[in-house]
Amino acid sequence: MLRGFLLISLLFTIAIIAVFGFRGQKSTGSPLEIFPDMVRQMKVRAQAPLNFFSDGRGPRLPVTGTLPIGYEMPTPKTIATPAAITATVEALQTHPRVGFSVGTDYYDTGKMANNWGTGIPLELTRELMERGQQRFNITCAMCHGATAAGNGITKQYGLATVVTLQDERIRKMADGEIFNTITNGKNTMMAYGPNIVVADRWAIIAYLRALQRSQNAAIADVPEDHRAELEKQ
Ligand code: HEC
Repeated sequence: MLRGFLLISLLFTIAIIAVFGFRGQKSTGSPLEIFPDMVRQMKVRAQAPLNFFSDGRGPRLPVTGTLPIGYEMPTPKTIATPAAITATVEALQTHPRVGFSVGTDYYDTGKMANNWGTGIPLELTRELMERGQQRFNITCAMCHGATAAGNGITKQYGLATVVTLQDERIRKMADGEIFNTITNGKNTMMAYGPNIVVADRWAIIAYLRALQRSQNAAIADVPEDHRAELEKQ
């Protein structure tokens, strides 16, 4: 009984001191730092002079030959690329504005005036679809699953909020809104704009539409002479 009382009053005293005690007072002296970590260190501050370099400038100029990200990279001819991919990369590069979002038009934002627009602003070719499939499998499938059913591998590791893209809401969503989700992310999905060039985002959407169609098809969508094949499987 007495032990309990002593323990409780000790905890109580500690709590009172923690809340009200040692609040310090104003001082003009430098504070006592027991572990200063890296608070004070010699470092480069943006736009500030620095005596370290002979020209007295802190920030350095980029190394000669540095390419700003988002602009066309020279494709080394020495790396063997499968013909299909080379063809697609070239096709993408012939588009006047390969790169990351730079403009305010539909192609770069997914918006037509104030609304989400719809439609793929690139020519829908087999190459574009294959490019979209490849990019989808690289950048989206680990979360959304290979058929976009929301069952990617990350779900098994606890990313519980991944949604299925086969949902009616997403099937009916404007292409431009999906473009924006890829570019800027949405709620718990992070932005993929900095990782995927604009043309590839559209290629992914084109492929996603094909996936949605494939998972919501009726037998009537299959050409008649191919129906027998399906029934066999
Ligand atoms: C790291 C996991 C992850 C990856 C990779 C990922 N997503 Fe998502 N995505 C999510 C999560 C989580 C949500 C649910 C967001 C929410 O509403 O909380 C989501 C939601 C969405 C939505 C629905 C947005 C809405 O309006 O409800 C779309 C469309 C989408 N993702 C498309 C994509 C596409 C296309 C890619 C590939 C470029 C991709 N996602 C890559 C995790 C991911």
